Amino acid sequence: MRDTNRTMAIGNATNTVCRRRFLKYGLAAAVFQAAVSATRGAESKSTNVLPPYTKRTLIAHRGASAEAPEHTLAAYELALKYGSDFVEPDLQMTKDEVLVCLHDTTLERTTNVAQVFPDRFVETKGRKTWPVVSFKLEEIKKLDAGSWKDRRFAGAKVPTFQEMIDLVKGKAGIIPETKAPEVYGNYGLNMEKALVETLRSNTLDALNSNPKTPVIIQSFSASSLKALRTEYGCRLPIVFLFGSGNYSKEQLTGIKEFADGIAPNKTVVLDHPEIVNDAHALGMSVTVWTFRAGQTSGFQSVREEMSHFLQQLKVDAVFTDNPDQFPRD
Ligand code: G3P
Ligand code: CA
Repeated sequence: MRDTNRTMAIGNATNTVCRRRFLKYGLAAAVFQAAVSATRGAESKSTNVLPPYTKRTLIAHRGASAEAPEHTLAAYELALKYGSDFVEPDLQMTKDEVLVCLHDTTLERTTNVAQVFPDRFVETKGRKTWPVVSFKLEEIKKLDAGSWKDRRFAGAKVPTFQEMIDLVKGKAGIIPETKAPEVYGNYGLNMEKALVETLRSNTLDALNSNPKTPVIIQSFSASSLKALRTEYGCRLPIVFLFGSGNYSKEQLTGIKEFADGIAPNKTVVLDHPEIVNDAHALGMSVTVWTFRAGQTSGFQSVREEMSHFLQQLKVDAVFTDNPDQFPRD
């Protein structure tokens, strides 16, 4: 009996200890489990995107350029209206060294330069072109950069990079591309210096200097990106653009020496889906271009195409002409 009682007492004591332990460690385990679940929840929300991104990211390519003329304030405003995380300006330079937002090195595709300045062309390969670098800003400001897209946009101007910043700062991130910087170098103009100075004067030159307007720099020019890092001490995130071609892991290692992320076009990722994991394994983000309605590589819609790249192929960010079609979680 005594033994039984003892046993019971021991049993009770054991039960009490167990209960206490359960309460103590069970509670701890529950707290731990909750923490794990919360972490998993956070992971699934962010779906493991790599810095500088914090979620699957929408970049408005040349603004909302499917609807409004590319690289006009109207296109950038529309991109903001659609909740773009970043707005993209491609950068060119005027003769008087002002950064302007334009995709081409010449003005004739997206402005009425041929009408306004009919004699100011240069002949290249039997074709008349009007290089941006041949014109001062005040001349470029005389051009209509909207009518080519639609008469509704008649009178839209080529914006300076500063005007683009004034519109977007505080509302979204900015991802400027140094476009054909070597061309400007040939004229003694320094695009990287101008870019860094503009960012600095807007207090956008350091990581997290404006949480509402993170800045990422992109280029097809490795030497431009290297110059930004080494000559100008740029510590902003940098992504390297490249198009179709053969892919090897070794290429990524080389890119990592001067960039934080890769930005291949869609074809590279479709042909080599392993590139995403390979880049992520090296700590590099993957930004893919360019998603546009009507060019959807066999997908039913641009939304479906972006969804495939973001959810199945696990890319971190997409450039799109159609920011209104971005698939949100
Ligand atoms: O910068 C990403 C994508 O825009 C690259 O192509 O020619 O449109 O500048 P492009
Ligand atoms: Ca671009």
